[in-house]
Amino acid sequence: MKLERQHGARSAVAQGDPLARRSLRGDPHGARSLRGDPLGRMIVDARSLLLGAACGAAVVALALRRRGAGGLPPRGAPRQAAPVASGSVLAAGKVAVIIGSGSGIGRAAALRCVALGMKLMLADIDEVDAASVAEECVKAGASKDDVVVQKCDCRQEKDVRAVQRAAYAKFGAVHLLMNNAAIQSNNRCGPYEHVDRWRTILDTNLWGVYLGGLAFVQPMIEQVRVRFRVRVS
Ligand SMILES: NC(=O)c1ccc[n+]([C@@H]2O[C@H](COP(=O)([O-])OP(=O)(O)OC[C@H]3O[C@@H](n4cnc5c(N)ncnc54)[C@H](O)[C@@H]3O)[C@@H](O)[C@H]2O)c1
Repeated sequence: MKLERQHGARSAVAQGDPLARRSLRGDPHGARSLRGDPLGRMIVDARSLLLGAACGAAVVALALRRRGAGGLPPRGAPRQAAPVASGSVLAAGKVAVIIGSGSGIGRAAALRCVALGMKLMLADIDEVDAASVAEECVKAGASKDDVVVQKCDCRQEKDVRAVQRAAYAKFGAVHLLMNNAAIQSNNRCGPYEHVDRWRTILDTNLWGVYLGGLAFVQPMIEQVRVRFRVRVS
């Protein structure tokens, strides 16, 4: 039926009928011309029904959201708890590896981990910066023995794997991996210029994160499995 209707409308278009042309484009004024025949009325009625249902659903969703129903807090409300339980990881004695810990968010995270009593592996391409963060951590109360610095270029698989081996050799486990190493374009590369700069950004911000997962995820899963085996035997 729809095909026939469209075919009819197309031939009307071919004959220069402007209303038929509008109806083919989905123009509501063109559709209005369909109200004369029963099929046209059904189509217009179905559209109104769908529009009404969509508006109704949107109003209900908005009302539920405002009331905080469905487990979601109202928009803008402070969240009382993290969506993922992190209590067992962010705790005294647990080990954090922060790649890109020499400044900014990585440095702030390191100091937060110290406040929680955690042990730290601070990795960064800039070893001097990472060492100065380690000093800050010790001043903030960490034991010297619980903060290790290692130079690492997150773009290099061998460097990231070396951090993983060093962390396990020193602490025996890793509970938190933070792939924070990143650089920005700072508007210094045009979209299709400075290919080398883009490659460096992607190698750092994308591949660095991938390599972190590649080196750490398997041993981190394994360490949980081992703990589980010990518990049940
Ligand atoms: N600071 C913010 O408000 C903010 C907000 C949103 C997102 N971010 C993003 O988060 C990322 C980190 O932000 P930040 O403020 O901590 O940046 P930052 O520049 O202060 O710190 C990044 C750290 O990564 C290190 N690093 C860079 N390249 C590396 C490499 N190849 N290998 C190992 N380490 C390397 C740097 O030496 C530095 O210590 C950035 O990409 C930033 O765009 C930052």
